[in-house]
Amino acid sequence: MKVLVIGNGGREHALAWKLAQSSKVQMVFVAPGNGGTAADTRLRNVPITDLGALAEFALHEKIGLTVVGPEGPLAAGVVDLFRNRGLRVFGPTQAAAQLESSKAFAKEFMQRHHIPTATHQTFGDAAQAHAYVDGKGAPIVIKADGLAAGKGVVVAATLAQAHEAIDWMLAGHEADNKLGVQHNAGGARVVIEDFLEGEEASFIVLCDGKNVLSLATSQDHKRLLDDDQGPNTGGMGAYSPAPVVTPNVHAKVMQEIILPTIHGMARDGHVYTGFLYAGLMIDAHGQPRTVEFNCRLGDPETQPILMRLKSDLVDVLAHAVEGTLDQVELEWDRRVSLGVVMASAGYPLTPRKGDAIHGLPAESSDAVVFHAGTAAAGGGALLTAGGRVLCVTALADSVKQAQQRAHDVLRGIHFDGAQYRRDIGHRAIKR
Ligand code: AMP
Ligand code: GLY
Repeated sequence: MKVLVIGNGGREHALAWKLAQSSKVQMVFVAPGNGGTAADTRLRNVPITDLGALAEFALHEKIGLTVVGPEGPLAAGVVDLFRNRGLRVFGPTQAAAQLESSKAFAKEFMQRHHIPTATHQTFGDAAQAHAYVDGKGAPIVIKADGLAAGKGVVVAATLAQAHEAIDWMLAGHEADNKLGVQHNAGGARVVIEDFLEGEEASFIVLCDGKNVLSLATSQDHKRLLDDDQGPNTGGMGAYSPAPVVTPNVHAKVMQEIILPTIHGMARDGHVYTGFLYAGLMIDAHGQPRTVEFNCRLGDPETQPILMRLKSDLVDVLAHAVEGTLDQVELEWDRRVSLGVVMASAGYPLTPRKGDAIHGLPAESSDAVVFHAGTAAAGGGALLTAGGRVLCVTALADSVKQAQQRAHDVLRGIHFDGAQYRRDIGHRAIKR
């Protein structure tokens, strides 16, 4: 079978790497891919990003399965488009992808279906939003309604920060450029919600429209700097499994969040297929609440998760597309996997491109360097080409050992201005 992965990040490199290990796969195409997928002989980059042209390519190449990495193409309706052309694709429809592409849709949905989440209100009018936060007090959370690559959220510790965030997000174009927010129809809106205390975890499942299969749990690290300081990013590192998700918490998440979401979406006429990622906040009593939904795999969570997956991912996704996930049981490596992101100078606001990358090691059985923002240059050179550049991912018997192994590999890799955290996994290590 020929397989197509859409996207160019570390998540897509990990997906393509894992899919290529299947004996059923002849070739994995990655559109558009990155410097890492270009260098792997089992993968081939396809320089197409227009979705109509990609569907043509998939028909022409007789692609047997397409997997969509990022939210952008899902929100743009790539699954609807591929299905209409008779192509097998794994992901949610455009309507179902609103769970991620509109925070206002997601919050209204959760309220209506009694799915635990923070109390919220949505505003298009700045004066009303300001009055609401004055009534609520700080800390409080202000979110732009629309896709913002994880950067459209301000957790305001003071009322002054909350007021400033509202002005940014509702003021129009200047703020949009700064945040990279793509507004939904109807113009700028903000969702304002109560601050939730607790520990976060990423809970990702596969859905085939009827059946749900959970992947191994994981935990991301959103802040740029050690000790969770600095600005929010797309994610600076992750590990799997996340011990905060005890068997008890796992059962609660399935019963109170995942299954009501899948059933609620079906009742609302949006049968959910694809990966569903619930970003959770788990309080001191083990009560999970939904911080957000993503309609895709997480990045960087996918890198450690797929390093632990022993099952054939092509088989699993074929069942997911056919609606037979009830016949699948996933097999996991019992070890811990931990990925440390190396980001470029200036990330997240002004990532620099074009720095030469040196010292990449050969892949080993317990350490893989997944590429994200990298590009092949002439003469075998590799350059930085985006915010998050690499994710150094290692397997070991404990979180501490996996962290050490990742850093042993990372120390050999160099590019000017590289930023990375030294404390990925700190919450699990403290436990
Ligand atoms: P989101 O894009 O909605 O996941 O928000 C990005 C990050 O902001 C989350 O991963 C949390 O760390 C933080 N955050 C978002 N909403 C809340 C909330 N209601 N309470 C506390 N932290 C939050
Ligand atoms: N790592 C967070 C995300 O993929 O949204």
